[in-house]
Amino acid sequence: MAYNFDKIIDRRGTGTVKYEMLKGMFGREDLIPLWVADMDFETPPFIMDALRRRLEHPVLGYTVEPADYWQTVATWIEEHHQWKVETEWMTYIPGIVKGIGMVVNVFVAPDEKVIIQPPVYHPFRLTPLGNHREVVYNPLVEHEDGSYSMDFENLEKVCDEKCRVLILSNPHNPAGIVWDRETLVRLAAFCSKHHLLVVSDEIHCDMALFGNKHVPFASVSEEAAQCSITFGAPSKTFNIAGVVSSWAVVPNKEIRKKFFGWLEANEQNAPHLFAPIATMAALKEGEKWRQEMVHYIEGNVELVERYCKKYIPQVKPLRPQASYLVWLDCRGLGLTQKELNDLFINKAHLALNDGETFGKEGRGFMRLNVGESRIILQKALEQLRKAIELN
Ligand SMILES: Cc1ncc(COP(=O)(O)O)c(C=O)c1O
Repeated sequence: MAYNFDKIIDRRGTGTVKYEMLKGMFGREDLIPLWVADMDFETPPFIMDALRRRLEHPVLGYTVEPADYWQTVATWIEEHHQWKVETEWMTYIPGIVKGIGMVVNVFVAPDEKVIIQPPVYHPFRLTPLGNHREVVYNPLVEHEDGSYSMDFENLEKVCDEKCRVLILSNPHNPAGIVWDRETLVRLAAFCSKHHLLVVSDEIHCDMALFGNKHVPFASVSEEAAQCSITFGAPSKTFNIAGVVSSWAVVPNKEIRKKFFGWLEANEQNAPHLFAPIATMAALKEGEKWRQEMVHYIEGNVELVERYCKKYIPQVKPLRPQASYLVWLDCRGLGLTQKELNDLFINKAHLALNDGETFGKEGRGFMRLNVGESRIILQKALEQLRKAIELN
């Protein structure tokens, strides 16, 4: 390994949500934070160097992407995911949750609805609700082995003519699912038939694990391409969420005209100074780092699996097919959600995401972020084991 992911970094005092919001979110600060989805690894040195080089210049004025910016992003997508995108299909957006809010405002009338498939990343629910749009739920089906699939029969039942947008988490947060081509083809056919715009949030797509392969929604069929907006970013993969650099890919001309027109009118398509610099460094120099990081995450997931099986079999981790979030099924502990949170926070001194945040389907679950030095992760598992034994 050329990069050291074991290194423990003190992030306190840097305005870090994961650390500085512990008291506000969990009521105490003496917790190992394994919640917010950024990693505790150092941001790669080639990104830090690129930013430092820019800071050596004494003027920080208005900024524009370099001429080869969009081709660099397109090449990355094609090389990693075999999806050939045209540079004119792409635009900068200032973050993916903000992008979802923009889509809701541009494409969903106040009396129209948004479909989501819980348990799922909570802003998919909160953003439409916060914009006073109704949310329609099509929960995923949970199988005996803990895996999930989409419920197409129920989708048919809950979708009416007021449904305008479906938000897809691909790969899926919190269950780490890499959706297979067949599912995506079927979803595209459904959405196309019902005139639904699909927002495919692919922020975790460059972190497929254990030989799994991400399939971009828009790449599976012409129907999928024509009914979708895909969001992507280097922010999760390269640990630069604070830089805020994301993109939208829209193959359909009409959708593009409406969405890009709104972005342009509101100058939401203009990147800030650091976004293209960090993104270019990530995509041009980051492949080795990405591969090593993915390998390290796989090792962390395996540690969680081994540890739970041996010492705390009441807690069952679902192996993520992508990303560094592990969906822990804690129903074997036989606790209410309140008791479960009390166990993790006040007894084990760990800050994880409460599974219920992702919908009522997440009751009995916790989401563990393993984007962490293995030494800390081991310590966290030991704290959990002791707390369960004493409970
Ligand atoms: C599925 C998913 N989408 C979006 C985001 C956040 O993206 P952004 O910071 O660009 O809004 C996250 C972060 O956890 C996420 O897991």
